[in-house]
Amino acid sequence: MSTTTTAGPVTGTVGASYTRVEGLEKVTGAARYAGDVPAAELAHGWLVLSTVARGRIRSVESDPVRGMPGVLAVLHHGNAPRVDGNYIGMLGRPDPIVEVFQHDRVPFVGWPVALVVAETTEQAREAAEALVVRYDEEPHDVAFSAGHAGIYTPDGDGMLVEKGDLAAELAASVHVVDAEYTTPEEHHGTMEPHAAMARWDGGRLEVVDSNQGSMWVAQELAKLFSLDPASVRVRSEHIGGAFGSKGVRVHQILAVMAATVLDRPVRVVMTRRQMFSLVGYRSPTAQRVRLGADADGRLRALDHQAHSLTSTVHEFVEASAGFGRPMYAADAHRSVNRVVRLDVPTPTFMRAPGEAPGSFALESALDELAERCGMDPIALRARNEPDVGPVSGLPFGSRNLLACFDEGARRFGWADRDPRPGVRREGRWLLGTGTAAATFPVIVAPSTAAVTAEADGTFTVRIGASDVGTGARTALTLLAAEALDVAGERVHVRIGDSDFGPAAISGGSMGTRSWGWAVTAAGRDLREQLALGGDIPPQGITVRSDTSAAVGSLTQKERHSFGAQFAEVAVDVTTGEVRVRRMLGVFAAGRIVNPLTARSQFVGGMIWGLSMALHEEAIRDQATGGHVGADLAGYHFAANADVPLIEADWVDDPDADDPVGIKGIGEIGIVGAAAAVANAVWHATGVRHRHLPIRPDRVLSAGAPAEGDGDA
Ligand code: MOS
Repeated sequence: MSTTTTAGPVTGTVGASYTRVEGLEKVTGAARYAGDVPAAELAHGWLVLSTVARGRIRSVESDPVRGMPGVLAVLHHGNAPRVDGNYIGMLGRPDPIVEVFQHDRVPFVGWPVALVVAETTEQAREAAEALVVRYDEEPHDVAFSAGHAGIYTPDGDGMLVEKGDLAAELAASVHVVDAEYTTPEEHHGTMEPHAAMARWDGGRLEVVDSNQGSMWVAQELAKLFSLDPASVRVRSEHIGGAFGSKGVRVHQILAVMAATVLDRPVRVVMTRRQMFSLVGYRSPTAQRVRLGADADGRLRALDHQAHSLTSTVHEFVEASAGFGRPMYAADAHRSVNRVVRLDVPTPTFMRAPGEAPGSFALESALDELAERCGMDPIALRARNEPDVGPVSGLPFGSRNLLACFDEGARRFGWADRDPRPGVRREGRWLLGTGTAAATFPVIVAPSTAAVTAEADGTFTVRIGASDVGTGARTALTLLAAEALDVAGERVHVRIGDSDFGPAAISGGSMGTRSWGWAVTAAGRDLREQLALGGDIPPQGITVRSDTSAAVGSLTQKERHSFGAQFAEVAVDVTTGEVRVRRMLGVFAAGRIVNPLTARSQFVGGMIWGLSMALHEEAIRDQATGGHVGADLAGYHFAANADVPLIEADWVDDPDADDPVGIKGIGEIGIVGAAAAVANAVWHATGVRHRHLPIRPDRVLSAGAPAEGDGDA
């Protein structure tokens, strides 16, 4: 087992705990975020968002506000520059968010209808708030449910997967669990709101942004504005969280439009409220799970039907049903993702998209099955451990799920657990423990890197990576130092600049693996060159790498990280309060590059899972179609007082197909965590909670469990 408690020393390379290389800059305020970077002649844009959920803009009454102090321009669909409507984004289709100011249609509450640009943010805001926009309103529908008449199964990979005769296996099963689980609309809430500054400089468009891939954003802006890709430079030096929400959004596009119209640098910063409709979010889900098993818990049938919503203008699917495909052997598997189009903003990737809500449903259902079978929940999972991919038939790259459960059970004290629900009391609290499994795919994407041996004995790494706050810059420093066989202090890693060439985005937990591969390749090459001897010229010696061929030649396998989540809760059934007392996560997630930041990453994910289980829920008002309480007062994230003792650790699990054994740890921390909490609430109270969050009113209205009935 690895030790995760050491903060330093700042020597050594991979596997040694290393504080963030930019940590001092961040804690002293020297690190500049996109909203802070100064620019001469900077003008400020303030967004005006629609107040109706569906209809057309009748008029934008900009004349009165154009005369207000400091106002430079009021951009809207009637006067904004046109963009390339045939633009195809990196995800294969244009996201209609890029149609901003291109037409008069309003597809949801919070769609941008104008940008007021002024000399100061205060002037821009005052004018934006005074701007009158009139609408021709149409009836809207924002009511999500699995029974909605508009539900359909999308085309595309992985939407419907079937193996074996589901109906026959269910019919032959001794134990059947058939239950519906729901999760609410959930939001990213990055500490740093989306912000971008755009300016033209000598015929080149420069954008200072906060994103998950500067090359990605640069390429998409070039396509949108019909520019030579070489004439667009996007930088994203420091990022205060991203989680899937920081791709191309309206702030970059409108900053570019305004900078072009005014021929001045323009910055657009979203407010916290605006983020709720403009950056994407996790769709609510309604999931039906059916499990059929023999008397001994062996699964015959696994059926997972997941429903989510998307907007009327773009199809994004929260693919929750895929979670079980690599997880459990069963004679018959069926998993299907369905979606319905409503008059709401388009949802997007959000930390473990699919796996986070999917694991809540399936890992809760497994716990229900364990109860029916009279089996320990860990033993039930072990009984259904597959030899090869249960649906794909492919071999696993490595699969150390049971090692995670063994180690987790030992450290959590699981062996002493009394399986009976609702029998432990401590004063007003009922106590319980729960567990759940986690998995996340292991992905890699081609990247390029350049490593330079400088004449002064240091090394400079340049790669188009993004450090979204997780410590990627530091991990790459360690990987480069290892490849070069030098101390980390001699290595300087520069990231977040589209001029550094193509690289994987920070997404899908693939960043450090993808970039690390490229940095390692260039670093090893450079070390070999330097071993030949000779002087380093003043400009240094630079070696470049491109992993396209190596990544492309990987054989097909089931590649996943795994984990075991444990939680202990205390429930006061007279107030409905649920307190998590401790959590433990043990992960098999490849070689761990930097234990210090890796632990933070896992723990952060687990806190997110706690938050998902107990607190997070965006409320959409059916009458207006908009949010109620779209701010951090109305939308509660777990805060310090909610967070108990949380420990994360890992088992040895190097990936044999990665040059340094990395799998990627970005997202798996959240997976299964909410189910572990919900299963612990059942163990405490005897009542199943299948609808998140487990709010006090839900605990109260569930009441005391009836004898022999675990249903909420
Ligand atoms: Mo993630 S949802 O790939 O930041």
